[in-house]
Amino acid sequence: MASLFDEFQLGDLTLPNRVIMGPMTRAKATPGGVPTAIMATHYAQRASAGLIISEGTWPERRGQGYCDIPGIATQEQEDAWRTVTDAVHAKGGRIFLQMEHTGRVGHEINNGGLQMVSSTTERADFFIYTHEHGMIPMTDNVHELTTDEVHEVIESYYQAAVRTKAAGFDGIELHAASGYLPHQFLSDVANGRDDEFGGTARKRTEFTVRVLRKLIEAWGSSKRIGVKISPNILFNGISEDRPDATYSVLLDRLNELDLAYVAFQTPESLRSLAGKDNPEIVDGEIWHRYPYEFIRERYDGVVIASGDLTQELAQNALAHDKADLFVFGRAYMSNPDLVERMRHGWPVTPVDMRRAYGSADAEAGYNDYPTYEEEMAGQGHITA
Ligand SMILES: Cc1cc2nc3c(=O)[nH]c(=O)nc-3n(C[C@H](O)[C@H](O)[C@H](O)COP(=O)(O)O)c2cc1C
Repeated sequence: MASLFDEFQLGDLTLPNRVIMGPMTRAKATPGGVPTAIMATHYAQRASAGLIISEGTWPERRGQGYCDIPGIATQEQEDAWRTVTDAVHAKGGRIFLQMEHTGRVGHEINNGGLQMVSSTTERADFFIYTHEHGMIPMTDNVHELTTDEVHEVIESYYQAAVRTKAAGFDGIELHAASGYLPHQFLSDVANGRDDEFGGTARKRTEFTVRVLRKLIEAWGSSKRIGVKISPNILFNGISEDRPDATYSVLLDRLNELDLAYVAFQTPESLRSLAGKDNPEIVDGEIWHRYPYEFIRERYDGVVIASGDLTQELAQNALAHDKADLFVFGRAYMSNPDLVERMRHGWPVTPVDMRRAYGSADAEAGYNDYPTYEEEMAGQGHITA
């Protein structure tokens, strides 16, 4: 029987196991989005993952909706990311960059005052953290991109992809989930356009597909490019009336692109991330529900699942061929050696979400979670 700890061939990359460190925004970059040294330490600590997917990283500054999240749009950022990828590779790991343009999600307070852009002028009805005012409603000053401007944004993804390769990453995951810019084009609620990027399901998928083509062009190989989707989630002010119609078309088109993988996050997991009860997740039955079946049936390639997984759930999903690779998010925050802990049946340290985010000098709650072996040697040094 296939095991989480078996090797997996992802295109030309050999992953030593099927345990993936999921993309997680931690707000540890400088205010201008330059990665910091503590980020290199953090990712290198987690190098035994089959694959690391970096936190969401913006291709152009307007896409920095949150404070202190990194970019890959300048030479300084590229160079700083190089120290991260070098640190991961030195420990024998592999790392993809997650490319995240937040679109209308966020506030211009967080990106140096640039007007935020979207498929629409409608604001995202959600809240955002700012250093200046704490939690505030997301911006209501959203610019609807003209058709020409959409092409310029797509070009910015291309430029960022060139830098991503130069920075030594092993590939790119396009973030087309969670209500960010590509999702603002995919959604039949957010996208009311009547140009080449809206009007029909196919046209709503056009932005995502064109960006992916640009990433492939920049990389020279489709097998180093993945995409994350989250059909039917309610998050960051996004909603979809008929996700089946949109994602049937999108998955058909993704098949043609011959990507490294499609990753998804279950709708339920976003509720659980928000700390609410999740009555639908019952012992080991997670894989019976949308979108596991929906994506597996339509998509021919590698599928990465995420959302409230445990070792047991992931192993069961693998045994039933519901997905190929399995993301662990929060468990990776608090267990740098998650693979070893699961392989040996060692206890998994619960995460302290109160310390999930923080400024560039904040290693507490970030780099101070010990490995199991360090814990046993009395070297645990978590600060309260
Ligand atoms: C602190 C935090 C930050 C996250 N940031 C991102 C992100 O930047 N991009 C993304 O695609 N998902 C992000 N996620 C979602 C995770 O990648 C993952 O899909 C989710 O946490 C579900 O997995 P889990 O239940 O194992 O935590 C984030 C989750 C957490 C907890």
